[in-house]
Amino acid sequence: MCEVHILLSRALSIMGPVPFFLQESAEGRRMLEFRRSLPAYKEKEAILSTILRNQVVIISGQTGCGKTTQLPQFILECEIESLQGAACNIICTQPRRISAISVSERVALERGEKLGESVGYKVRLEGIKGRETRLLFCTTGILLRRLIADRKLKDVTHIIVDEIHERGMNEDFLLIVLKDLLPRRPEMKLILMSATLDAELFSSYFNGAAIIKIPGFTHPVRTCFLEDILELSGYRLTPDNQIDDYGQERIWKMNKQAPRKRKSQIASVVEDSLREADFKDYNPQTRESLSCWNPDCMGFNFIEYILCHICEDERPGAVLVFMIGWDDISALKEKLLLHPVLGDQSRVLLLICHGSMASSEQRLIFEEPEGVRKIVLATNIAETSITINDIVFVLDCGKEKESSYDALNNTPCLLPTWISKVSAQQRRGRAGRVQPGECYHLYPRCVYDAFAEYQLPEILRTPLQSLCLQIKSLKLGPISEFLSRALQSPEILAVQNAIEYLKIIGAFDDNENLTLLGHYLTMFPMEPKLGKMLILGAIFNCLDPILTVTASLSVRDPFLAPLDQKDVAAAAKSQFSHDYSDHLALVRAYDGWKDAEIDLAGQEYCWANFLSSQSMKAIDALRMEFLSLLKDIGIVDSNPTNCNAWSYDVHLIRAVIFYGLYPGICSIVHKEKSFSLKTMEDGKVHLHLNSVNARESKIPYPWLVFNEKIKVNSVFLRDSTAVSDSVVLLFGGKISKDGDGQLKMLGGYLEFLMKPPVAEMFQSIRRKLDDIIQSKL
Ligand code: CDP
Ligand code: MG
Repeated sequence: MCEVHILLSRALSIMGPVPFFLQESAEGRRMLEFRRSLPAYKEKEAILSTILRNQVVIISGQTGCGKTTQLPQFILECEIESLQGAACNIICTQPRRISAISVSERVALERGEKLGESVGYKVRLEGIKGRETRLLFCTTGILLRRLIADRKLKDVTHIIVDEIHERGMNEDFLLIVLKDLLPRRPEMKLILMSATLDAELFSSYFNGAAIIKIPGFTHPVRTCFLEDILELSGYRLTPDNQIDDYGQERIWKMNKQAPRKRKSQIASVVEDSLREADFKDYNPQTRESLSCWNPDCMGFNFIEYILCHICEDERPGAVLVFMIGWDDISALKEKLLLHPVLGDQSRVLLLICHGSMASSEQRLIFEEPEGVRKIVLATNIAETSITINDIVFVLDCGKEKESSYDALNNTPCLLPTWISKVSAQQRRGRAGRVQPGECYHLYPRCVYDAFAEYQLPEILRTPLQSLCLQIKSLKLGPISEFLSRALQSPEILAVQNAIEYLKIIGAFDDNENLTLLGHYLTMFPMEPKLGKMLILGAIFNCLDPILTVTASLSVRDPFLAPLDQKDVAAAAKSQFSHDYSDHLALVRAYDGWKDAEIDLAGQEYCWANFLSSQSMKAIDALRMEFLSLLKDIGIVDSNPTNCNAWSYDVHLIRAVIFYGLYPGICSIVHKEKSFSLKTMEDGKVHLHLNSVNARESKIPYPWLVFNEKIKVNSVFLRDSTAVSDSVVLLFGGKISKDGDGQLKMLGGYLEFLMKPPVAEMFQSIRRKLDDIIQSKL
């Protein structure tokens, strides 16, 4: 930009660089006033001139100060004024699709435009973008994908990477790529935005990049930990975590009015909560409590109790409840809907907010209804990426679902873990956006004191398979070398495991180069194993059930198992299975639901069979997404045949499931009246209680293939399907090559079969199969 333009833009920005139409309407003026009231607006000049002078700028500021919605607009407006508008092309990445969509809608609204004019968005399989679009909000994954086709991001003038403090894998990955790219694109600007104050870390990564801190303001938030909540209820926590009747005057009105009986009920809720949460077992070193937080019992009654207090006694204001994940959000919602006060829709508007919700549902969260109390049950997504303005009360369960990875045993874990101190503060801050607020942390202060300061970055705690695939598809050189340039490099063992895995599934050849299969897998925005299963389903003409399996494995388990009805629920699930397969049970359940939907009886079907209708709908939508993806990539034509999908008992469908999930396999060691399970890495493993196979006393197959194993105290397998020896021999990767040790570990069964000439026969069939698959790709 030349000097004249800078001066012009300064002059215009003082006058208010606002699209003229906004100034004309009352709505436009209101919006403008709102924008100007945001802390980011006051820093506009400083931000723009710093960006002008530096290639990399880091901007940090409290959540809600206007980073995401304003910063990209400042740049856009400045470019438009400087007459470079037509040439500018700003990309702003978001870690989640829900924020990419909601932010783009908001920015278009602020500009008085429709989406697809100057502002657009693009997320997986969905997007609105027009010829005039100059500012695109997209998920980080979309930008990474674009890099495959356009290595130098030719037309992009500004890249804004948002929410870098979350240290998501994609963001950390993108930063390595961009760091390499910057010297080759000296005119391109990179702006990193972060909610918390770890800006120095990023600045030093980018060789001392400029930092701008936007001063923030929040109203004071009164903080209650568990002991304070008890005190307000009329009870006191003794040093050994027992409850004492306190009987003080300061107690909540609801409890004062309550008859004694109700008081004792409250005491028992709280006593339950302490027992269930087992804070005594809390281990500050590992950040784990020996017994998990059990939301079904403790949290739910406790949360209901506090919500009831807020609705009955407290001033107006919306409530935000931080829960662990989608499962407990939907279960709590169902429970609350039955409550006389909280379920009364004339008084309470109960909403949910999580990453995989539809955009129409999202909009409701931001609305500010009059005369009813808005209660939003949310995951940690509402911590920083989504700001709901009218929140006055926050309830924080203190946990989130964190994926972690045990590289030594090559075992991924997805467990509810305690959040970090930064997250707890962030959650609390959500209450003070518009007026002084209140935050109820549902755990004692000593637990908070033991929280880690920050969460570990995702790149250090998740399996790296998808990442390694991406590194290869972007031709970024040797994987280990590339990852050594990360902000924090993952363990060598974790990298080796991922490479080994990709070789086993046939995505890499022995020299770590992408195979044709690997090349196709990079086009699937999902785990490589699910992508592979889809491709195989198409090749073997049984795509229909495989679409259901892959879609089901991508959403929360649709089989519900309420604690108090576990047996009834398990019995309902077992109707879908008489073939030792959770995956095929999912297919049957889905097909039954689809039939019921034709008669508009899907909901009843779900109730009767302990299924989540939300999961069913999500599976239905994902199936369609996956199918259109397969068509786009050219794996199937407009009308894929399903001639091999006519019966679920056919071994072929099992084989395709097996081939996709391999090497997730364990051997069944049969005993007289029972059986035990073994995997190579873990030795003895167990079936998750919700698996249909967990209820069997005998499984007439030698192997189980599983989608996921999770380490809690011992290792548990989630969904599994029993398979025969021949399937293992035909589709089981490199068993024959890896020699005796592995086969012995797997149960000694195959040793016999693998002796020549049987082994040779299987190997030649396998080779033919591989040829067929390669030729179909
Ligand atoms: O990114 P940061 O957390 O700094 O803030 P933001 O997302 O840009 O939000 C700035 C303001 O716009 C907040 O007060 C939000 O509540 C508001 N906003 C909104 O009203 N509706 C949206 N969809 C997004 C933001
Ligand atoms: Mg933001």
